[in-house]
Amino acid sequence: MGILKNLKGKNFINLEDFTKDELLGLLDFAAKLKKKTKGKKNLDILKNKNLVMYFSKPSLRTRLSFEIGMKKLGGETSVIKQDEIILGKRESIEDTARVISKYADGVTIRTFAHNDVELFAKYSSIPVVNALTDLSHPCQIMADLLTLKETFNTLKGLKIAYVGDGNNVVNSLMTACSILGIDISVATPLGYEPDKNVSDIAKKIAQKSGSHIEILQDPIEAAKGVNAFYTDVWTSMGQEAEYEKRKEIFKNYQINEELMKHTNKNAIILHCLPAHKGEEITKDVFEKYQKAIFDEAENRMYAQMAILATIMK
Ligand code: CP
Ligand code: NVA
Repeated sequence: MGILKNLKGKNFINLEDFTKDELLGLLDFAAKLKKKTKGKKNLDILKNKNLVMYFSKPSLRTRLSFEIGMKKLGGETSVIKQDEIILGKRESIEDTARVISKYADGVTIRTFAHNDVELFAKYSSIPVVNALTDLSHPCQIMADLLTLKETFNTLKGLKIAYVGDGNNVVNSLMTACSILGIDISVATPLGYEPDKNVSDIAKKIAQKSGSHIEILQDPIEAAKGVNAFYTDVWTSMGQEAEYEKRKEIFKNYQINEELMKHTNKNAIILHCLPAHKGEEITKDVFEKYQKAIFDEAENRMYAQMAILATIMK
């Protein structure tokens, strides 16, 4: 727990701002909070604290896991949606950040441009949490790591494959793997690779941690011997106009029975959800591997509780 003390007041926007020990400390704390609060009385760690949550995009998991997680910690939440303030349009991001800082003790932001979250954080005097941008989704990945740890008892020696679109989720997944020394193979169609800057940073971090990162085009090559297979929608929020085009481009990047034959025997599937069954994953495979997927959704709450209880306390 000692190591988490240093994180008080810190933003949770980019995973690369955290060390291996800090991320592992947060995961341990999340597991403890799960044990303490699942089906039990709420705690008072964040009593009298308020979290403001802003959403420019839809959400089921993020909104509920933060709201209910905050209640479990004894705190309160207020949600504002894009149609209410239109971040950066009705008034500047700089002013919005300074106003929210006067009312609340922490803020989560889900929006399009990652730079908007960075700008908000620059003017905010309370910790800012990235609840998904076009570039990254770090809270999701903390839940995924918790699920991997629960399943395999350790993160050491794990190999993960991601197949599909090189989007916000895989950007954060690659960053986390590089920090924690987990091997990862990413298979995407040509031109749909993860963000170049993110993969360059991840590869640099991986040189120190010993993690092996590869970006390929062949899903079968990526699947070989992995402990966990990860996928996400082919069309992310904000890309709806490209839906038909993407369906064609990604059609060979589906997790199905055939592809699962190339993974380890006890491999699990991770999916951040929402899932588009029949696209990035078949319905049968989704149902067969649903346990870890819904554990992962559940773990959003405990992973985020650990983050909030650390940075807002
Ligand atoms: N995985 C995830 O972030 O889900 P929501 O978009 O429903 O919040
Ligand atoms: N890549 C998806 C993740 C949803 C949680 C999106 O941005 O829509």
